[in-house]
Amino acid sequence: MEIVIKKFNERKNETGALTFLEDERDIPFSIKRIYYIYDVAAGERRGFHAHKTLHQYLICISGSCKVLLDNAKEKIDMQLYDPSEGLYVGPGVWHEMYDFSNDCVLLVLASDYYNESDYIRNYNDFIEYMKGAH
Ligand code: TYD
Repeated sequence: MEIVIKKFNERKNETGALTFLEDERDIPFSIKRIYYIYDVAAGERRGFHAHKTLHQYLICISGSCKVLLDNAKEKIDMQLYDPSEGLYVGPGVWHEMYDFSNDCVLLVLASDYYNESDYIRNYNDFIEYMKGAH
C-alpha cells in the first residue's frame, strides 16, 4: 500500500512555529469539510470504517495518535505527532485511530460534505467491496 505523508509549509523561528496549507495547492483536492477529534479517553479506538469516494488528510495538530490503514490486502500502522505533516487516507482504506495521547487533537480535511452513504462501517462488507480491487 502506498503511504502518502505530506510535509506542509512550516515557518519556525525562535518565537514558535506556524504551518499553513492552501486548498488545491498543498492539498490535492478541494476541502469541503473540516472536523477534529479530541478528548478521546485512554485506550479508545475510533474510526472503524472505509469510504467509497472520500479523500482525507489527517493532521495531528496536538499530541499524538496512531492510525491503522488497511486496504484489504495489507495493514500498516502509522504514528502521527508532527503538526506539519498530513497522512492521506483515500477511498477504499479501512482506518482505525488509537493510542490517542490525552492532549491529542486530530484534524481532518475532507473532500466532501458528511454523507453516511459513503461509509462502509462493517469490516466484512469492506472485504467484499474490495474484492477485485487488487
Ligand atoms: P464517526 O464517524 O462515528 O466518528 P469516528 O470515525 O471518529 O469514530 O462520527 C461520530 C458522529 O458524528 C456520528 O454520529 C456521525 C457524526 N458526524 C457528522 O455528523 N459529521 C461529520 O463530518 C463527521 C465526521 C461525523
